[in-house]
Amino acid sequence: MTRPTPPRLFFRNAAQLITLSGPPVPRRGAALGELGIIPRSGLLTQGESILRVGSTRSLEREALRLRAEAIDCRGRVVMPGFVDSHTHLIFAASRVDDYDLRLRGKTYEEIARAGGGIQSSAQKVREASIKSLARQARQFLDAFAAHGTTTVEVKSGYGLDIAQELKILRAIRALQADSPLELVPTLLAAHALPPSFRGRSRQYVDQVIERLIPLAAGADVAPDVAPGFSPAPAAPSLRSGQALKGGATTPKDQAAREKLAEFIDCFCDRGAFSVEDCRRVLAAGRKFGLVPRIHAEQLSRTGAARLGIEVDAASADHLDKLSAADIRALARSSVVATLLPGANFHLGLKRYPPARKLIAAGAAVALATDFNPGTSPTLNMQFILSLACTQMRMTPAEAIAASTINGACALRRADRVGSLEAGKQADLIVLDVNDYREIPYYFAVNHCGMTVKRGQIIYSRV
Ligand code: NIG
Ligand code: FE
Repeated sequence: MTRPTPPRLFFRNAAQLITLSGPPVPRRGAALGELGIIPRSGLLTQGESILRVGSTRSLEREALRLRAEAIDCRGRVVMPGFVDSHTHLIFAASRVDDYDLRLRGKTYEEIARAGGGIQSSAQKVREASIKSLARQARQFLDAFAAHGTTTVEVKSGYGLDIAQELKILRAIRALQADSPLELVPTLLAAHALPPSFRGRSRQYVDQVIERLIPLAAGADVAPDVAPGFSPAPAAPSLRSGQALKGGATTPKDQAAREKLAEFIDCFCDRGAFSVEDCRRVLAAGRKFGLVPRIHAEQLSRTGAARLGIEVDAASADHLDKLSAADIRALARSSVVATLLPGANFHLGLKRYPPARKLIAAGAAVALATDFNPGTSPTLNMQFILSLACTQMRMTPAEAIAASTINGACALRRADRVGSLEAGKQADLIVLDVNDYREIPYYFAVNHCGMTVKRGQIIYSRV
């Protein structure tokens, strides 16, 4: 997006300014609850960055000299914008039919096996144009901003073939050109096995590795001679042209040189992809410069979290079914343990991921929405905080750190976002509460009164 020059802004007299200041590394253990709060304080921005943070009095003179626009934050909390490190933003339609079926007793996995679930979302995406996918997502992004989120990871994954996955990644790129929020694109290459590959997951994974990953990574090489991969026979659907329809995939094509994704993800679970398949996908992504992350231990314990550690993933997400040894291994690793309680809530589960055990062991815990039409149709990080506190017994302070600085670590952006410190990006929100603990406490309402991204006010209701 071509951005107008941001004004200089002076946020004055915040009841609490939550800085989360400190080194740009994940907060663990007791440090997760340390918010670095400055009472009755202010913050000055210049351009896209934070110029200074301190008591309102100490900033007055400089604000005057810079002719900064003053914003009165009396009785309000100012904190970093939420970093939502796990979303499936690009889909074509809701899955209210699945929701209805589940309320009548069917399980998520039963619905998926019967052709609902991810397959039905893929069918709808196939019928949609890039333009209409981007249009719907754009509306959601406006709502993300209005609820205080300033950075959003966005996965592909409802394509299930090369052309459709590239279409989704291009929709993300088109959105980025048009949105003030920062979008972080992830190729979710192995999400569900397309029906045409039933019983042949290996062949599907071959196709993902040989064709899709190089294209998504913008490798300027013919996929068949991509480094590290011996030329393999084309998968049947490629020979028939099925998987290529609608998407040009010759290496000379412009698409072959566009880096469309930054991360690579896979759904490693019962009914999805095996640890062996995911290991190959993530390793291939890594070879092409895509950083691994993984959907792990959501429906069953498969060893996916260990795989995440093995490949040095940026994050392992969900983590409902961890063993005690997994928790210890995650705590020793640099993998961010990203918990997605919105999925448990929407699926009506009684059990939530073991947040307290992870924090006690010293794991780097983050929170995200998992915004998607199947398991977590919420984009409201404030509600995720309420779930984290009430259902997983995280403290409000821990939940805030997990959804800002630790989310930024999960997206490898903690040097730029996730805390309010001089020199960092001016990504911040002003909330209509006196005390940060009221954010999860008054649950299921939007407390966000103003959202600032790179020094620009992108949402305001005050
Ligand atoms: O994170 N677990 C896999 N992916 C999504 C759900 C996808 C869907 O049901 O559409 C998740 O929960
Ligand atoms: Fe997910």
